[in-house]
Amino acid sequence: MQFQVTPSALNDATVTVPGDKSVSHRALMLGSIAEGRTNVSGFLAGEDCLATLAAMQSMGVSIEQDDATDITIDGVGLQGLGMPDGPLDLGNSGTAMRLMAGMLCGQAFDSVLTGDESLISRPMRRIISPLGTMGARIDSRNGLPPLTIHGGSALQGIDYNLPIASAQVKSAVLLAGLYAAGETSVVEPAVTRDHTERMLGSMGVAVNKSGNRISVEGRQTLKGCAVQVPADLSSAAFVILAALIADKADVLIENVGVNPTRTGIIDILQAMGADISLEQPRLLGQEPVADIRVRSSVLHGGPVAPALVSLAIDEFPVLFVAAAAAKGKTTFSGIGELRVKESDRIAAMASGLRTLGINVEESPDGAVVHGGRFSGGVVESHGDHRIAMSLAVAGANAQEPVTVRNVAVVDTSFPGFCDCLAALNIDIQVLAE
Ligand code: S3P
Repeated sequence: MQFQVTPSALNDATVTVPGDKSVSHRALMLGSIAEGRTNVSGFLAGEDCLATLAAMQSMGVSIEQDDATDITIDGVGLQGLGMPDGPLDLGNSGTAMRLMAGMLCGQAFDSVLTGDESLISRPMRRIISPLGTMGARIDSRNGLPPLTIHGGSALQGIDYNLPIASAQVKSAVLLAGLYAAGETSVVEPAVTRDHTERMLGSMGVAVNKSGNRISVEGRQTLKGCAVQVPADLSSAAFVILAALIADKADVLIENVGVNPTRTGIIDILQAMGADISLEQPRLLGQEPVADIRVRSSVLHGGPVAPALVSLAIDEFPVLFVAAAAAKGKTTFSGIGELRVKESDRIAAMASGLRTLGINVEESPDGAVVHGGRFSGGVVESHGDHRIAMSLAVAGANAQEPVTVRNVAVVDTSFPGFCDCLAALNIDIQVLAE
């Protein structure tokens, strides 16, 4: 499938975007190993989370999907999972694989975790190494999936200094820590999303935080609870960008998660001159949410603060679009992790933007983007949902139509993306390749 995006004048509009992917994955996994029922509302019925849902069901957890966004999980307790019939296929999802590995190395049975072409080329030593220190036995293909996790290991708590700022690695170690003897601690080099800690807390687990150190005592019981999933700021980011770079638009995105470990995109865009405000900030369960108002703005380039990288880690593709639409040059540094996401996101965005007439200089862990005007052209998603959506948003503000190829993968995180852009009056068609 491909998108054909025709440059469009935007409407003022109020829109919603689907539920948060990180929170939805965690609700499924933690709800499954909790005792009692977990009711989830606002669940993201995207392919990544549906892969996690199917994996938990194949380990014997009863999960009812009452409608697309409401699910009921009957938790089986820490030791209640059963051996799956075959390999667990986690599709495109690094979060599913890394968090599930942490949870599965504490089980009595063996399991195999695999995924699509992108996922089986993503680095797993970052979890194999600390989990191995805890006593887990995990085989891989030279650090790449499939992972074979041998059950029956006696895990021991560790004190682990994370070498990279990664919420997936932090969460994998903390989940294994639930199965370990004694205390497990992780120390983060920079703050990363804390949805695991918050959800464990609402399920009755004592999680201690002191500075950048997060600790959990093993063998605590999780209690099922209600989880209300906020709309995903990482999906709202595409709407934010479309509105910001339009000639004239005033858009409200409702009920979006604004957990401070996720809001780097807002800080970065505001520093570039964006008119973004958070209206009616409130709490939805354990997660802060707000309605986000965005008005078209003249953006200015500059250096992007490296301290904000881990707080905006998934938003760099769309931030490259902001930089391309800004006046002057924008310098990104300390973003080497982007090269091991669903695609090499620095290379993918540099190549897509160059095709659209933007001058981009790449370095191993950064890029310099020179602001300009988007021409039309045919660009590639590289099988990466966020690249596809970022380039589609650029197309809405281009001088000629933009075709984005290989876009079916958008359903991993943002089902309804085209309808959402259409609500802003963006002319986006889905065509066969
Ligand atoms: C996620 C953590 C981030 C992010 C991913 C979701 C999570 O990955 O890129 O989309 O839900 O924990 P890393 O921890 O690898 O940075």
